[in-house]
Amino acid sequence: MKVKLRNPDKTHEVAGPATVADVLAGLEINPETVLVIHDGELVTRDRTLPDDAEVEVRPVISGGSRSPRKLRCHACGHPAVLEIARHRASYCATHLVDHVRSQVRTAIDKHTMLSYDERVLVAVSGGKDSLALWDILLDMGYSVDGLYLGLGIGNYSARSEQVVTEFAQRRGATLHTVDLADEYGYDIPDATRIPRRSACGVCGLSKRYVFNRVALEGGYEVMATGHNLDDEAATLLGNVLRWQTPFLARQSPALPEAGGRARKVKPLYRLGEREMAAYCVVRGLDYIVEECPLVGGNTVLRYKDALNELERHSPGTKAQFLFGFLDRARDEHFSEPGHSDGDAISCSECGMPTSPPKGQATDEPVRCAFCRTRGRVLATL
Ligand code: AMP
Ligand code: FES
Ligand code: ZN
Ligand code: ZN
Repeated sequence: MKVKLRNPDKTHEVAGPATVADVLAGLEINPETVLVIHDGELVTRDRTLPDDAEVEVRPVISGGSRSPRKLRCHACGHPAVLEIARHRASYCATHLVDHVRSQVRTAIDKHTMLSYDERVLVAVSGGKDSLALWDILLDMGYSVDGLYLGLGIGNYSARSEQVVTEFAQRRGATLHTVDLADEYGYDIPDATRIPRRSACGVCGLSKRYVFNRVALEGGYEVMATGHNLDDEAATLLGNVLRWQTPFLARQSPALPEAGGRARKVKPLYRLGEREMAAYCVVRGLDYIVEECPLVGGNTVLRYKDALNELERHSPGTKAQFLFGFLDRARDEHFSEPGHSDGDAISCSECGMPTSPPKGQATDEPVRCAFCRTRGRVLATL
């Protein structure tokens, strides 16, 4: 059979018939880090594939492991398409969708994230998480528009924009598109020119700025992103390893409006990468599988790998780490952000709210972090 690996793309010829478990073992792939797709459907480890099969092994970063046995949906007993070790559960396609929606419902209710009379703006990158989030919130009946930010990263950005635009058209949903180069005069590859600053750092700053600006100018009450359980647990690990206490205080699935910043929510924080990738496959959502080419060596990815290794041996570790912090540690041990909310002032260049640097009087002109960084990038062009 033909086994197509992704990221980087590579095809292996493997003799069949063989079980998915054997195929993966032969290729030395940890089954918990991938989805296996045959004829457009997810297949579990116990399935036998014929010799003429064409199979895609799609990477997702996640964890969990159970012994290979006949996997059945916990809700209806039909053959399962995905096993979620930390819940000790497997689901068929229908009940996987129910599971994902019910976790989003829990997240929204637990943190009073959204209400039906508000306008929501979801930042959609074309990746599995944010596309799925938009799909789920639309299905739940929220009033939710999309925002895509063009970062100018070659083919990767071109493909992402296409995926997001096609989704919006198919769902008849409103999409705002902002192109960093058209609007602000630089793109993310340009940002590699400034010293002592990673392009990813500039990218993150640009995203936060543009998301906030579009939300405020568009009159959206709340801004949603597709950060999932793996993203949040990895960020938490990074913040704990360095005891970044101000970041720990601010790490939350729901941040209130503060200092001119729109309210921000992460409705997928209870769902892992693997569940989100599987959701997209069963819902037929075409998303960008490739990762951003600039992301190599990113520390968050290393933290994800480390957590996945722990998760492999003790399913549930990742969720306990994150949820334990949110439920028991954050409010008790980390005081509220040092956001000088009261004295937010307007940036002298763009007019967006910002806070004066420590020690500077509030009546002196101040450029926001985005305008300062943008100035540095423009100076190199
Ligand atoms: P990342 O920082 O790439 O892990 O993405 C985190 C979240 O930010 C995603 O789930 C999206 O909600 C949002 N996002 C990332 N990149 C973009 C983009 N180019 N346009 C719009 N939203 C984005
Ligand atoms: Fe921001 Fe790659 S998406 S640097
Ligand atoms: Zn079922
Ligand atoms: Zn500014």
